[in-house]
Amino acid sequence: MNRYSIIDLYTDFATNPGKDFGWDKGMQNALNHHYKGAWINSIPEVIWSYCAAVGNPFSAGELHAGETVLDIGCGAGVDLCVAALLVGEKGKVLGLDVTPAMVEKSRQHATLAGLSNITVYQGDDEKLPVEDSCVDVVISNGAINLSLYKEAVFAEIYRVLKNNGRLFFCDMIKDENNISTSCCEDESWADCIAGTLTSSELIKIMGEAGFDDVQMLATNHYKTSAYTVGATFRALKLRGGL
Ligand SMILES: C[S@@+](CC[C@H](N)C(=O)[O-])C[C@H]1O[C@@H](n2cnc3c(N)ncnc32)[C@H](O)[C@@H]1O
Repeated sequence: MNRYSIIDLYTDFATNPGKDFGWDKGMQNALNHHYKGAWINSIPEVIWSYCAAVGNPFSAGELHAGETVLDIGCGAGVDLCVAALLVGEKGKVLGLDVTPAMVEKSRQHATLAGLSNITVYQGDDEKLPVEDSCVDVVISNGAINLSLYKEAVFAEIYRVLKNNGRLFFCDMIKDENNISTSCCEDESWADCIAGTLTSSELIKIMGEAGFDDVQMLATNHYKTSAYTVGATFRALKLRGGL
């Protein structure tokens, strides 16, 4: 895996949202993941064309008015906009993406949607640009599997969450019913195939990072290869800081 191939792929997507990359995206993808009609109607249509969601992290639990939310690997900002609607004007939504073109696109989309409580950072999820214990909810959608050091990502998420903070995320996992011996080393990392783990491997890493009540809630229809499937997870930070 190389960071540049990830940045190249997602720069291409940020520039050409209509191009066929071999995975579902766009408004139909959001509808397939049951994003609510109220959100679809409130967020400008062009933003939905960049929806590369592998699931619906908002199905894992509620966001409350006034909360602070961080979206890791926010892409062009679809989930940032949904989170901003949910937390309202008194809430705060932070986004992080490693691809500069996505950061620019998500900032443009926040402005286009008229959502002034969104701030987007460019950077790597292995080192979050946020202070300890200041986020109520971390969300992520199709991004953590792209990281080489998932232990570092979950340790960082744990660090930035407040006590009683929640983690709601969707990601590609290895489909344990369909792993062949040829899976997956030769497959593309940037397309969310080679970097995927099994659900039990992910749950173990989250537990070791300190999370409680770690659950895989469901798998879904989303596929990036014959060996991978979309899944939704939830975890809580019940103990104090690190
Ligand atoms: C499949 S897209 C999903 C985008 C968005 N969450 C959505 O649902 O439309 C994955 C995103 O993760 C970003 N990404 C990949 N590796 C990352 C890393 N190490 N740190 C932060 N962002 C990363 C990519 O640039 C890309 O925008």
